[in-house]
Amino acid sequence: MNLEEAKKRVEELRKEIEEHNYKYYVLDNPVISDAEYDNLMRELEKLEKKFPELQSPTSPTQRVGGEPLPYFTTVEHPVPLLSLSNVYNEKEIRDFHRRVTAIVEPVQYVVEPKIDGLSVALTYVDGNFEIGATRGNGQVGEDITVNLKTVRTVPLKLRKQVRRLVVRGEAYMPKEDFLRLNKKREEEGLPPFANPRNAAAGSLRQLDPKIAAERSIQVIVYDVLAVEGENIVTHYEALEFLKEAGFKVDNNAKLCETIDEVIEYCEKWHERRHDLPYEIDGLVIKVNDVNVYEDLGTTAKAPRWATAYKFPAEQAVTTVKDIIVRVGRTGVLTPTAILEPVSLAGTTVSKATLHNQDIIDEKDIRIGDRVVVQKAGDIIPEVVEVKKEERTGTEKKYTIPSKCPECGSEVIRPEGEVAVRCTGDLVCPARLREGLIHFVARGAMDIEGLGPSMVDALIKNGLVEDIADIYYIKKEDLLKLERVAEKSANNLLQAIEESKRRPLSRLIFALGIRHVGSRAADILAQNFHSIDALMNATTEELVAIPEIGPKMAESIVKFFEQESNLKVIEKLQQAGVNMEEEPPREQGPKPLDGLKFVITGTLENYSRNEAKEAIENLGGKVTSSVSKSTDYVVVGENPGSKADKAREMGIEILNEEQFEEMLKIK
Ligand code: IVH
Repeated sequence: MNLEEAKKRVEELRKEIEEHNYKYYVLDNPVISDAEYDNLMRELEKLEKKFPELQSPTSPTQRVGGEPLPYFTTVEHPVPLLSLSNVYNEKEIRDFHRRVTAIVEPVQYVVEPKIDGLSVALTYVDGNFEIGATRGNGQVGEDITVNLKTVRTVPLKLRKQVRRLVVRGEAYMPKEDFLRLNKKREEEGLPPFANPRNAAAGSLRQLDPKIAAERSIQVIVYDVLAVEGENIVTHYEALEFLKEAGFKVDNNAKLCETIDEVIEYCEKWHERRHDLPYEIDGLVIKVNDVNVYEDLGTTAKAPRWATAYKFPAEQAVTTVKDIIVRVGRTGVLTPTAILEPVSLAGTTVSKATLHNQDIIDEKDIRIGDRVVVQKAGDIIPEVVEVKKEERTGTEKKYTIPSKCPECGSEVIRPEGEVAVRCTGDLVCPARLREGLIHFVARGAMDIEGLGPSMVDALIKNGLVEDIADIYYIKKEDLLKLERVAEKSANNLLQAIEESKRRPLSRLIFALGIRHVGSRAADILAQNFHSIDALMNATTEELVAIPEIGPKMAESIVKFFEQESNLKVIEKLQQAGVNMEEEPPREQGPKPLDGLKFVITGTLENYSRNEAKEAIENLGGKVTSSVSKSTDYVVVGENPGSKADKAREMGIEILNEEQFEEMLKIK
């Protein structure tokens, strides 16, 4: 096949594949089998590979997801993406109607499902998909084009000739795919998503488009934000136009002539809401005539020509069989009620979150109680109230345990907080993933090539059980992982090796001690110069440092009190991770580089500060207490116990004369 013939065939294939996509995803009416579809795709892929000059960003082969981005850029929306006011009952729907008819009369409405997803704006230029963005703050969103390109219901090319078109829609994950994804995540030891909305947002806000490509995300479009060369006068027509242009629209949109019809349609959806393959949390009521939008205007955030009717929360009564605690990725212990399974909001519910001890006490929830549960929007329901009149006297009170059920570490309830936390920061399996991601991140140990998916692979394959294990990974282990070849394994090992030399401040930050951000880590490194010294610091010493508050001090002390955390630090040390302040970078090596001094007693020719300065000028460090890492102890008149300690520990002692010699010789 020559280039000319290939070009013709490629175009045919693209057209045919897009046509099948449209039939399958938009019209819900596939006309060929999956196998036939796959054959067409394969043929196209082959041709594009053989004739790279025929590749195109709008080819259906581009849906697999390209290279990861370093970060998302922002885009300004051509028209602000407004949000909606809410109404909750018939009376409020009628109030809305009254406000509308005060300005326009008569009025038709379109009522359509309110999909619980992520609002996106899609821009097309000359029929090609150019930009896909999140809503963001309504004015400016994030450019997630690479991820939206993987979504089959986002046409890469329009089926209509339009110079410029900007549409708005909802990206969502169908309920079935959501349940499947969560099941898989639980099997892999990953935290499940709370609801399909979070799952959709989590998938589209990933920098690696391969992740979005693997997840079943769809987009239903419901608004034309801007169009050139079309005269659309009603919302209903807009939906028709969008469908013809190739978008998936909600076929349940209904044109209503009266407000009674609107109310009836809203109520009808109370029972039907769970029949849809995607989660909806209400219906959107929109004035049909687009020309009156300007007359109706908008409030600060929401238009006056539309409103959202929100479904009431659904409730059921059941029994609390048990209360267990789950440890979240930040170490918070969340009590969860195990319920007698009950049917609620279209699913069987067997768990409810109890949030924290205060809520349990306040609502007086006991094991064995009959309770009212409710689903507000999240998949995990909550207990609204206890049916105390149904108590038999056998119900048992509950208190959150004092040890973490995952790792056995002590739990604390920091002052002023309702949450109880596990203190096994570095060892708790429930926290390992987040801890590792933080440890290797850019502002921390900065290990290139160790992103979240690699972290997941390492945990899944049992290669790391704590953060220090990173430094013990062997090449043969890496090569066993999927998608890791010789070269990337070498690169990763080298990056890990290099990270051992990061400055102390980075290590302190990387440990993920609660409340210790990168600025605090810098201050701690400057004041303590080594992990050893920081480890021995008392709360009083810590709070004496400007910018270190009591909350942070308490958190640091607690962190280093945990035997398990200390073990991990020891493992890091043994692996050769730098645990001391880095030598100054500006100049070349200095004679006392890396040497640590302690001064005790009074020197004849030097004040304390002068001696300190002299040492530091030559690159040495002066610390206040004698430890294993001390190299020399300078002893003057009337020395304190530090001299004895140095002798005991076998650390070299210098009298003033020897000290002076050292300064000269060196
Ligand atoms: S219309 C000014 N239609 O609901 C027009 N919104 O609570 C505003 N939503 O941010 C949007 N389905 O993300 C509209 N059929 C639908 C919708 C819908 C879901 C979302 C949208 C919006 C939120 C407002």
